[in-house]
Amino acid sequence: MSKDGNWIPPQHAGIKEKIVQGYLRIWFTRLSSTSSVLSYLDGFAGPGIYDDGIIGSPIVAMEEAAWALKRHTETYIRLAFIEKNRTIFEKLKKNVENYQRNLEKKYGPSVTKRIRVLVENMDFRYVIETMTFSPWKNRLHPIPSFVFLDPFGITKSGFSFDWLRTFAERSNVELLLNFYVQGIERNRSTISKERINQIFGEYIDISNKSVEEIVKWFRNKIRQELNMKVLLYEMRNTRNRILYYLVFITKSPEGIKKMKEVMGNLSGKYFYFTNEGHSDQLHLLRHDFPEFQNDFLNRFAKQEITVDDIFNYYVASDEYIWTEKDIREFLKHLEDDGSITVKPFKTDGKKRRKNTFPSNAVIVVL
Ligand SMILES: C[S@@+](CC[C@H](N)C(=O)[O-])C[C@H]1O[C@@H](n2cnc3c(N)ncnc32)[C@H](O)[C@@H]1O
Repeated sequence: MSKDGNWIPPQHAGIKEKIVQGYLRIWFTRLSSTSSVLSYLDGFAGPGIYDDGIIGSPIVAMEEAAWALKRHTETYIRLAFIEKNRTIFEKLKKNVENYQRNLEKKYGPSVTKRIRVLVENMDFRYVIETMTFSPWKNRLHPIPSFVFLDPFGITKSGFSFDWLRTFAERSNVELLLNFYVQGIERNRSTISKERINQIFGEYIDISNKSVEEIVKWFRNKIRQELNMKVLLYEMRNTRNRILYYLVFITKSPEGIKKMKEVMGNLSGKYFYFTNEGHSDQLHLLRHDFPEFQNDFLNRFAKQEITVDDIFNYYVASDEYIWTEKDIREFLKHLEDDGSITVKPFKTDGKKRRKNTFPSNAVIVVL
């Protein structure tokens, strides 16, 4: 059960951490081949390991950092865990120290000495203030950073749209935010105008808005004002009410492609990757074909394009939910019904294998 008495399906346990784990595995590994330093910031870190043994996001990040650094021997990863509550912070510190020892045994000091962990007992607000006022602000080389903000509630956390503005100023920041919309919706009669202004970056009238409308509005604000792409992952309780959204925010088309894969693979009855707030997304994914067919055949009519061009159009965009796997499946349908043909040779001059859609296959749209 959640703090506010909502029944949460047991499958929810650890789902956020699985998303963080899945994405960090790809992100740390991909970026450690091009950057010498990477950074992960967990603004609302929690204890690292819960009393029931569930592994929290800080420990997940440590494990994934070690996994990537074993493969990339020149890179350093900085991990910063911020926790306001003293007792939880003490637990976190102990769990991190123990886990550092485990990792050293598993991967050796050549890996662990390149993981720099900072555990701070402070309010996340001060981290943002330090970032904003630091005299070094514009001088530091922008380090690729992944930020996870997972407060218990948005209203109480002090969350401010300005935080997103601060991160958006840095070119290499990607963010995963736990946006507890239901808390906002429930408290809509008591929440002050100032607080709404702060959370949404401007005043919006939420008195008649549904949870879906609120989150869509928030997503569009991020897209338009910060010029960033946004993916949504929806979490519902057993009464099928939306509890919260994980909001992924990035400027990177590659980030969108990869996060779609991670979120798409972790769909279940009460939680799924969605960009439109559909309640039946799992099924809609397959029933989406006519929508794709229509859009694709109009947009690319009479053109010759590679599968990679199609991925770059649909998969790297936050306007569409589809992953590379979905697109390949759709292309197969289109080939079967004769709406497209595939050239026998790929762009590298090699033969295309029947029924496959590698990224350098050439599609001819009729
Ligand atoms: C939902 S838990 C974090 C769970 C963690 N992300 C995980 O996956 O294991 C939220 C944590 O944020 C802490 N917290 C609340 N307000 C905070 C603030 N303003 N600054 C830093 N930590 C805060 C709480 O004490 C709590 O431990």
